Amino acid sequence: MKSSPTTTTVFLLLLLCLLHSSASTPTGFPTEALPTKSGYIPVNPKTNSAIFYLFYEAQNPTSPLAETPLLFWLQGRPGCSAMTGNFFELGPYRVVSSDGESISLEPNLGSWNRILGLVFVDTPIGTGFSIASTHEELPRNQLSIARHLYAAVTGFIESDPLFRNRPIYFAGQSYGGKYAPAIGYYILKQNQKLPVEKQVNLKGIALGNGLVDPLTQVKTHALNAYFSGLVNERQKAELEKLQQKSVELVKMGKWSEAADARFKVLDTLQNVTGFATLYDYTMRTHYQSILVDKFLSSAEVKRAIGANESTVYKECNNAVLAALNADVMKSVKYMVELLVKNIKVLLYQGHYDLRDGVLSTEAWVKTMRWEEIERFLMAERKIWKVRGVLAGYVQKWANLSNAVVLGTGHFVPKDQPLNSQAMIEDWILDQGIFASELERDVSSDSRASF
Ligand SMILES: *[C@@H]1O[C@H](CO)[C@@H](O)[C@H](O)[C@H]1NC(C)=O
Ligand SMILES: *[C@@H]1O[C@H](CO)[C@@H](O)[C@H](O)[C@H]1NC(C)=O
Ligand SMILES: *[C@@H]1O[C@H](CO)[C@@H](O)[C@H](O)[C@H]1NC(C)=O
Repeated sequence: MKSSPTTTTVFLLLLLCLLHSSASTPTGFPTEALPTKSGYIPVNPKTNSAIFYLFYEAQNPTSPLAETPLLFWLQGRPGCSAMTGNFFELGPYRVVSSDGESISLEPNLGSWNRILGLVFVDTPIGTGFSIASTHEELPRNQLSIARHLYAAVTGFIESDPLFRNRPIYFAGQSYGGKYAPAIGYYILKQNQKLPVEKQVNLKGIALGNGLVDPLTQVKTHALNAYFSGLVNERQKAELEKLQQKSVELVKMGKWSEAADARFKVLDTLQNVTGFATLYDYTMRTHYQSILVDKFLSSAEVKRAIGANESTVYKECNNAVLAALNADVMKSVKYMVELLVKNIKVLLYQGHYDLRDGVLSTEAWVKTMRWEEIERFLMAERKIWKVRGVLAGYVQKWANLSNAVVLGTGHFVPKDQPLNSQAMIEDWILDQGIFASELERDVSSDSRASF
C-alpha cells in the first residue's frame, strides 16, 4: 500500500511523540524513573489523613513477581521524608547536580529494587507528602505510628492481587530504627488474631544505624569519641556528664527534657570536633539532600510521582518532630526481642557514624533478653567481602545478624550503594555471608564470580 504524504507525516509525528514520551516527561523526568505505582492510602476513616507511598517493582526479579519480596523503607529523624531515601540514597534514580544549581536524575546501580519490590513510605502522617488532617492527629508515640502504618501497609497489599502473598520486609534508618520494630511488633500481634489469609506475611526487619534503646545508646558517645581520638580526657568527662543528665531525666520520666539533653550531647560533640556533620566523620561539607527538595518543588515532578501538587514539600516537618519529642528516648528493644524469636532481624551500621554507630548498637544488643543472646555474642564476627573486596563484618546467630559497613557513615545506601544492595539482597535471600551455617559453603562471598 502506498501511503499519502499526510499519512506519512502523521505517522512520523506520532512516532516522534512516542519516542519523546518514552524518553522523558516535559520536566526531564525519565519515564523509566516513574514509580510503578504511587499515591495515598487513608489511615483514619473519620479524617482525611493519609499516607503517601511510592512503589518501584523489582527490575530483575529472580522469582515470579507474586513471590518476590517487598521491602518498605522508613526514613529516620521524626518528620523526615522517605523521598530523601528514594532520591538521595537507595531508589532507582538519584537527584544529582554537577554545579549545585541544575538538577537531574541519574540511575543508581546500587538501587534496592534490583530483585525486590521497593516501597517508600512517608511516615508518620504530616511527613513529606503524607497528610495530617489536624495537628492533634499527629502521632506522639510508636503505637499510633504503627496503627497508621498498618493501615497503609495492608491497604497497599490489598490493592493488587500480585501483592497478597509476597514476603514482607521493613527497613528503618536512624529513628526509623523505632518505626520498623513498632510496625513489626504490631503486625505480629494482629496476625495472632487473624485467619492465615488475612495475616501480613512478615519475614524480617532491617535497622540501619538505628535508634532502638536510646538510654543505652546515649551513654556511648563519650567513650566512642575518646577512643576514636576525637576528644581528650577532659572533654570526655564533660560529655559523660551531659550523657548522665539525659539518663537521669529518663529515670525521672521527663522524656522531653531527656531528649533535649541527648541533643545537647550531640551538639557539644559536634562543636568540639568541628565536624560538618556527625553522620559521617570523614565528611567536610554538608549533605546535598536539599537538591531533593528543589527537585520535588516542581509541580510537574509532583504530578509525575502522583503527589498532591499543592503540597509544599519539605525534607523534614518540624511539627512532626515536636509531637514526637517525648518519644525519642523511649526504648523499642522489647519489640526487637519479640521479633527476633519470630522473624529475621538485621542490624547494620555505617562505620563513620558518630550518632548511632557501631558501638552504640553493640551496647544495646548485649543487653537483649533473648535465649540465644549468649550464643550470638560468642558467634564469630566474619570478614565480609563483595566481589572480592572487603566490605565490612558480619556477625550472625539464629535470626539475628549484625553488620558493620565500611566506607560509610549514617546513610549507608548513599555512600555504599553496591555493598548495601548486596547486603540487603543476601540477607533477604539467606545467601552469601547471611546463609545459615548448614547452607554456607567455604566462600562467604556470593558475588565472587560476578
Ligand atoms: C554549639 O555551637 C553553636 C554555634 O556556636 C552554639 O550556638 C551552641 O550553643 C553550641 N552548643 C553547645 C551545646 O555548646
Ligand atoms: C491537595 O491538597 C489540597 C490542600 O491540602 C486539598 O485541598 C486538595 O483536596 C488535595 N487534592 C487532592 C487531589 O487530594
Ligand atoms: C527464627 O525465626 C523463625 C521464623 O523465621 C522461627 O520459626 C524461629 O523460632 C526463630 N528462631 C529462634 C532461635 O528464635
